[in-house]
Amino acid sequence: MMLKQHEAMGKVTFSACVSACEKCRKWQYAVDLLSQMDRKRVAKNLITYGACISACAACGQWEQSLGLLHDMRSAEIFPDLVACNACITSFAPQAQWQLAVGLLQDMPGLRLNPDVISFSAAVGSCEESRQWQQALHLYEQMRRQSVRLDDFGHNALIGAYSRAGKWDLALQMLSLKRSSRYPVGVHACSASVSVCERAGRWQEVLQLWPTLQQVQEEANREDGELYELHSVGPEDITRHLERALELQWLVGYPFLAAGQDQLTHGFYKYIAGMQALCARELYRLVPESKTVMDMFCGSGTVLVEGCVAGKHVVGCDVSPLALFAAAHHADARHLDLEIFLKRSRALTHALRLKRQSWDFLRCQIACQEPGPVQDALHFVLLVALTRARDRTYLHTSSKEWGKDEANAGSSDGGPEDDLAPSLFHGMSQLFAARVRSLRAAMPRRSQVQIHRCDNRVLQLQEPVDSIITGPPYPGVYDYHAPASATADLLGAQVLYDFCAPGRSVGGGRAPTLEDHLDHLSSQYAPGREIGQNSQLREASDYASKWRAEQEAWLASACRNLRSGGTATLMIGDGDRFAVGDGKFDNLKPTVEAAEKVGFRLLATASIIGKSRHPTQPRGMKRTEHMVHLLKPG
Ligand SMILES: C[S@@+](CC[C@H](N)C(=O)[O-])C[C@H]1O[C@@H](n2cnc3c(N)ncnc32)[C@H](O)[C@@H]1O
Repeated sequence: MMLKQHEAMGKVTFSACVSACEKCRKWQYAVDLLSQMDRKRVAKNLITYGACISACAACGQWEQSLGLLHDMRSAEIFPDLVACNACITSFAPQAQWQLAVGLLQDMPGLRLNPDVISFSAAVGSCEESRQWQQALHLYEQMRRQSVRLDDFGHNALIGAYSRAGKWDLALQMLSLKRSSRYPVGVHACSASVSVCERAGRWQEVLQLWPTLQQVQEEANREDGELYELHSVGPEDITRHLERALELQWLVGYPFLAAGQDQLTHGFYKYIAGMQALCARELYRLVPESKTVMDMFCGSGTVLVEGCVAGKHVVGCDVSPLALFAAAHHADARHLDLEIFLKRSRALTHALRLKRQSWDFLRCQIACQEPGPVQDALHFVLLVALTRARDRTYLHTSSKEWGKDEANAGSSDGGPEDDLAPSLFHGMSQLFAARVRSLRAAMPRRSQVQIHRCDNRVLQLQEPVDSIITGPPYPGVYDYHAPASATADLLGAQVLYDFCAPGRSVGGGRAPTLEDHLDHLSSQYAPGREIGQNSQLREASDYASKWRAEQEAWLASACRNLRSGGTATLMIGDGDRFAVGDGKFDNLKPTVEAAEKVGFRLLATASIIGKSRHPTQPRGMKRTEHMVHLLKPG
């Protein structure tokens, strides 16, 4: 409207407005301003075009930026380096490597010398398009023209090699980056670990691991100011609760602190796993407890840490995938590693000899003698299949869960078929190495019981001394999605045979209330899962439904805990889009439900993200809480 009132707006004002649009990433307004300039016969210049191209490029509008570049050239305005670089940069995420390389090669004709940004952005396009040879070619060209790689360029090259499975080139580039002035960084290290995993270079993975831990820790330290902690209760409890929350936020999944031996945590990357160090911190609250239960055990983080702390641990979950992962992570059946490795080697040999891939491997494992070794081979097959699709070790977002499993090892051809022998062999070796580290960290052989049932009907013969657990967050995830995708991938029978509903890992009936026999006969029923996104998110009675689910499982927690024992819960707020004001505080309803079923509240702690900036996702994380409860004597 303002613009209409100022018919005589000049070139300078337009340029300033377009630049403002660029800064605010309003590319449509920038393009609109350019059209207005045409209508008002204000001549466009390098600055207006450049700002508009940058605005479009920053918003991923590569077609718009390219169109503007052509317009410029038709208007006989020579684009400058900034405009060309913006354009090339916009091609990278869209995998338009031909356009990126084409423009780069055209630059001398425009009297421009490509600089490090032009080259790095073009290499980035090649990375996205899996054109590692082109990336290498560009790198050689850079060297000839004495253009030195920057941070982004190193990462893009490592990423390109990683995607192409060129582990040796990726490691060469990583060591070059190490000797440069740029920090190694999570991206480069994670892509290198990933390519080594996929190529079966398990020794290299073990060698790289300490660096990955270290760069991850450094990256997290930078986020240190992005949250605040609040707690209520005695200091000797709240300091552990606060520290556990901090560790949950600061230490990336599934790491232990830099320098510590990686255990089995996260070998299978489970959805919404608790951080290992967070669980370790919570055990400091219950040094005297002999038996500890995680009644939403997921992939077994709390169980593994319990074994390390020398406890007898009990796990429960409805998801067959969770139990499959938890039992293997916690070494629940004391796998014979020698036989496991022998059989894995024989399978790899057969794969290579017969030039076969995943389907053959599936069939061969299915023919093995049933028991812990066969289960472990299936487990490693699952991990290998999911890793076949993972580009970087760390970047699997929870939104992608289910997709990885669904896509992994698909029979649509593609490079992942070639990966089968090396990946399966490498992951078997890595798994054995992680289990050995776990055994070395435990004061004695693990004592683990794992039950597959709805924990609301759990009835242990002996109550436990403590509970440490992380229930689902209200309406946030559907844990059954990755479980169903995995069942499709491995064959539904594999997960079912491992532990049927109402059974315990290793055999026997899960200890449940007698009057809930229907739970024993049903297959995995998603409806048994509490807090389920698909059930709760849209529910009009969201809060009361959640409250009823809370009371039911907390009543079971109270029933299965000895008097004088404690329950420590890690909970998170609800999905912010689920309810009217965009927030669902989960602390109050959880505490109220716990008190209603007989617990006494001892302490709480909360961690709240401070940043609202989209480039600082950690600061935007959902609020999480620790609740420490006592079952009065
Ligand atoms: C937040 S995850 C636990 C993650 C776990 N702490 C870890 O580190 O992997 C919550 C788990 O609760 C399980 N769950 C949901 N409803 C359940 C129920 N009624 N009984 C038992 N487990 C349930 C889900 O299958 C999921 O594995």
